[in-house]
Amino acid sequence: MTDRLSEWQDKIEARVQRLVREDIRKLTAYPVPNSSGFLKLDAMENPFTWPAELQQQWQATLADVHVNRYPHPDAPEVKQGLRRVMNIDERWDILLGNGSDELIQLIAMAVAGAGQTLMAPEPSFVMYRMIAQYLQMDYVGVPLTERFEIDLENTLARIEREQPALIFLAQPNNPTGNLWGDEKLRRIIEAAPGLVVIDEAYTAFTEADYLPWLEDYPNLLIMRTLSKVGLAGLRLGILIGDPAWVNEINKLRLPYNIGNLVQATATFALDHFEVFQQQTQELVKQRAVLIEQLRALPELTVYDSEANFVLVRTAPGRAAEIHQGLKDAGVLIKKLDGSHALLNDCLRITVGSAPENNRLMSALVPLL
Ligand SMILES: Cc1ncc(COP(=O)(O)O)c(C=O)c1O
Repeated sequence: MTDRLSEWQDKIEARVQRLVREDIRKLTAYPVPNSSGFLKLDAMENPFTWPAELQQQWQATLADVHVNRYPHPDAPEVKQGLRRVMNIDERWDILLGNGSDELIQLIAMAVAGAGQTLMAPEPSFVMYRMIAQYLQMDYVGVPLTERFEIDLENTLARIEREQPALIFLAQPNNPTGNLWGDEKLRRIIEAAPGLVVIDEAYTAFTEADYLPWLEDYPNLLIMRTLSKVGLAGLRLGILIGDPAWVNEINKLRLPYNIGNLVQATATFALDHFEVFQQQTQELVKQRAVLIEQLRALPELTVYDSEANFVLVRTAPGRAAEIHQGLKDAGVLIKKLDGSHALLNDCLRITVGSAPENNRLMSALVPLL
């Protein structure tokens, strides 16, 4: 039996080696730590649940969904709700994805091909690089400055040299939390020979709004998500842009990518969007409180944030220990130390509710 089993495994292994691309075999799947039982401040989720009455109304809505049927392929009610709450002009088309992760992949697939380059400032959202790798695109990460600003001269030089088909600019940027300024963004979009996507995943936590820029640039797309607003479990990403772009990218979308239950829930949530707006405004307030409290601690450099997380730098060599110390106290945050040269000693803390942030602070103080 054991011999047969090991023979079987050898056969499979031989075929995996022969059939699966070598660069894929070298990858590791996106790591998601086990968070059960922890105070979860690692993934930029909204900590608030819905008021009980709303919860009941939502469940009643779901009772009418017929899951024996395929969903509407274009989710028109969801798009209508998005147009209303995000003020999206009829002139622009909307493409929905299973999270904005799926949209990054679809956009990249549309332009991928021999020798095509995907560019992004670094450090930024890791999926830009990962998806470029999946699609065998050349990836160029242009380093931010030590203060996590765009190095405009270098970025323009790299654009000139690499002629990227696609550039992703996360605004605010993850994991640094900052905005790079309109002037620099305009210069990059104007210099870009290909498509530029401004990824506004954290739009709910900032005054910055690049949607109106669609009027100015034919090579620009805007991407958003409902994840950070309070619907991370739903998986709904939103791409907004000229129909000429959206039509092409839509051809790569698998049919029925947005299921019945997601469409019904998103439509319902968008009809009650003021609840999410109140929650995100509360998180903006809590962000200011948390930053002030963190800045009062010794040993930490605390960066400004326009998102629902705060980047901090510990004293040299202490990030892993502080991360583990918090974990031992039941608090999960993100360790960035070791992920990029500019993020040495860095940790990222998602902004929680006031009681959650107090719990974080109580666990953190004894570690410093
Ligand atoms: C900048 C940015 N874009 C996109 C995403 C992906 O969001 P989702 O796939 O949940 O819509 C994230 C998630 O952390 C992000 O930080």
